[in-house]
Amino acid sequence: MTKVIGFCGSPRKNGNTHFLIETILKNAAEKGFETEYVSLNKADIGFCEACDACRKSGKGCVKKDGMQVMGEKMKESDVWVLGTPVYWWGPTAQMKVFTDRWYGLPRETFQNKKVILVVPMEDTEEKTASHVIGMYQDAFDYIGVEMADIIVAKGVMEAGAVQAKPDIIKQAEDAVNKI
Ligand SMILES: Cc1cc2nc3c(=O)[nH]c(=O)nc-3n(C[C@H](O)[C@H](O)[C@H](O)COP(=O)(O)O)c2cc1C
Repeated sequence: MTKVIGFCGSPRKNGNTHFLIETILKNAAEKGFETEYVSLNKADIGFCEACDACRKSGKGCVKKDGMQVMGEKMKESDVWVLGTPVYWWGPTAQMKVFTDRWYGLPRETFQNKKVILVVPMEDTEEKTASHVIGMYQDAFDYIGVEMADIIVAKGVMEAGAVQAKPDIIKQAEDAVNKI
C-alpha cells in the first residue's frame, strides 16, 4: 500500500505547516493510502558532524539518535510531505538538520520517492520562498527524488492563519492527485 509521511519542520503546534500537512494526509487517507505524521521538533535529530564515517564505513551514520527511526520511516514510505515555514528566507533549523542527515542514508532510501513540499510564510512575495524551493529542487535533482507538488502559503503569520485561505487549502486537498 502507498504510504505517505508528513514531516513537519515547524515547532508550532497547530501552526500553518501542521494544518497543511494534516490536510494532505487526510486526503491521502481518504484515497486509501497509509499515512503518518512526524514532528521533526520532537524527533531528537542531532547535527551532521561531517565526520564522513557513514561514507568510509558504508554502514551509515555513527550517531545514534532519532535519525535512525527517521531513516526507516523514509525508506518504508513512498511519498514525503515535507513542510517547513520560511525562517530567514530558508527552511527552519529543524528541517535543515533533518535534511543534512540524509547524507548518511543509503541511496536506496531515495529510490522511487516523491515529495510534496509545503512552505508557509508571512511575506506575500513568492520570491521569498525561492531559496527553500530552489534548495529542495536542486537536492532532489541530485538524489533522484521527484518533486510532485509545491504549495507556497503566502501571507500567513499567525498559527492557523492559513485556515482562512481557501485557495491554499484547495491546493493542499488537490496535492494528493499528483502523487
Ligand atoms: C524565526 C522566524 C523567522 C521567520 N522568517 C520569515 C521570513 O524570512 N520570511 C517570511 O515571510 N516569514 C518569516 N517568518 C514567519 C513564518 O514563516 C510564518 O509565521 C509561518 O506561517 C509559520 O508557519 P507555522 O505556523 O507552521 O509555524 C519567520 C518566523 C519565525 C518565527
